[in-house]
Amino acid sequence: TPDIPVANITAHLSQLQSIGPRPSPSTGYISALTYIKGKLDAAGYTTQVQNFTYGGATHQNLIADWPGGPGNQVVMLGSHLDSVSAGPGLNDNGSGSSSMLELALTLAGRNPTLTKHVRFAWWGAEELGLRGSQHYVQTSGVSGIEAYLNFDMTGSPNPGYFVYDDDPQLQRLFNDYYASINVQTEIETAGDGRSDHAPFKNAGVRVGGVFTGAEAIKSAAQAAKWGGTSGQAFDRCYHSACDTYPANVNTTALDRNADAAAYVLWKLAVGGTAADD
Ligand code: PHE
Ligand code: ZN
Ligand code: ZN
Repeated sequence: TPDIPVANITAHLSQLQSIGPRPSPSTGYISALTYIKGKLDAAGYTTQVQNFTYGGATHQNLIADWPGGPGNQVVMLGSHLDSVSAGPGLNDNGSGSSSMLELALTLAGRNPTLTKHVRFAWWGAEELGLRGSQHYVQTSGVSGIEAYLNFDMTGSPNPGYFVYDDDPQLQRLFNDYYASINVQTEIETAGDGRSDHAPFKNAGVRVGGVFTGAEAIKSAAQAAKWGGTSGQAFDRCYHSACDTYPANVNTTALDRNADAAAYVLWKLAVGGTAADD
């Protein structure tokens, strides 16, 4: 499986930092969506901007399909692109959004033989109550989606390594990757229902993902296994003006989680020939 180049992910983070806050809807959100869509279109993705209304305003999801693979067996990966209005949201969720962009570009570059169709989503209005992912599930439906993988906050500055425990097989795939790099994980407990996997799970889709922690405090035991600072939040700048790049993103965690996502995607969707490894 590919090693996702972290320097490319951080280049996307720099771009998002220069745009500034991306609340949904806003000119910042549109600029960020336009940046990501442009890269995906150039790489050969079929992209679609899905408009929806919430709270009297029009919001947008970006959906990108990689041509190929059986259309009725889909592996979907998603991350919310909107930030709160208080800050530029570089960990929440520039981290997941930029990692998914680079994973999508890596898939396009390698162009492996696929056993599943692969679809990526960048959600709008997550911060307003998971509105974009909810809209997608309600209007596009989940027929054929065999797994949904969510990436929301994957580069917290004082990181933990939390794996969603919603589906045992997906959980094990992420844990297999972390075992291979000798990083211990914990079960993600804080996030149940708090991000865009929830509408998929509620519709009966198997969901998985990784998370490096938000406002919760890192314990002494967690600092002993992961490094960083005990007695401090995983992300002291959660939903604040100081959620910036580079200050508020841990690039080691960012890199590991992007590689974990690639590992799981390849396990789920890529044919088994050596040339595709
Ligand atoms: N969805 C939360 C947010 O965007 C972050 C979060 C993700 C919290 C996963 C817990 C688990 O603010
Ligand atoms: Zn948030
Ligand atoms: Zn988030």
